Amino acid sequence: MLKKELSDLEIVTKIREFLKEYPDGYDEYAKEFIERCALWGRDTSTTVSELDQIYNYLGLDQEDNNIYRAFADLVESKFDINRPIYEIGGGNLPTVGKILALRQQKGTVTIYDPRLIFTKTDIPNLNLVKKPFTGEEIVESDALMIGYKPCEVTIPMMNYVADNNLDFMVALCDCAHDFPEILDEDGLNLWYQACEWPVYRKFYKEDERTKKPGEKVRRVKRLSMEEYGNPSPIIYNTIEVKE
Ligand SMILES: C[S@@+](CC[C@H](N)C(=O)[O-])C[C@H]1O[C@@H](n2cnc3c(N)ncnc32)[C@H](O)[C@@H]1O
Repeated sequence: MLKKELSDLEIVTKIREFLKEYPDGYDEYAKEFIERCALWGRDTSTTVSELDQIYNYLGLDQEDNNIYRAFADLVESKFDINRPIYEIGGGNLPTVGKILALRQQKGTVTIYDPRLIFTKTDIPNLNLVKKPFTGEEIVESDALMIGYKPCEVTIPMMNYVADNNLDFMVALCDCAHDFPEILDEDGLNLWYQACEWPVYRKFYKEDERTKKPGEKVRRVKRLSMEEYGNPSPIIYNTIEVKE
């Protein structure tokens, strides 16, 4: 939600100046859309990701109603963030990863997105990689992998997390990118399950089925950010003692 003290004209002017500063940052269609819909965020914290990222980058939204800060808070509430963190599908502008990098006492945050509009940053522990994440990358064994609506890279990312035994937290998309099978009647739930499946299968095989009561097991959990207008679940892992 935009800051109440900013007038419509001030918001539109700031967004126009930002677009001029990065003339190659967006294609013509995206630029026109961003200008035309610049005020969509007046009453909600989630509009369209390109616009949400710009509000966040320019500091136009209210700190207590910023979807990226809320997701960073969730990550921090479930995991130690002082470690290598990889954000996949971070967007055109750094958002969640940047917030976490500024909170880290040690460790690094590396953001992968082929659409990043710049890769230079003054934050020494933040790396901006303007490339698609392919699953060929090598990360530290204690890395945490996160994504806020990483679209079509969600399932490759979850396969990677499963193969490399990484901690993860991912806010799933509202639409089922490239998901080939028939969806259920509300068009969403099977996509959620497909995203969870690689890690769920691994945890089930290696932990639930084999570990004895009292031993540690990894589990997939869901959280909601519906209060921010985000209808899709957040999935993440826990390590718990088997009952
Ligand atoms: C819906 S946007 C979300 C962006 C940002 N996290 C946000 O919520 O504002 C999905 C992003 O995933 C990125 N993406 C798609 N495939 C990717 C890949 N293989 N590696 C990294 N990023 C990818 C897109 O470029 C896009 O920026």
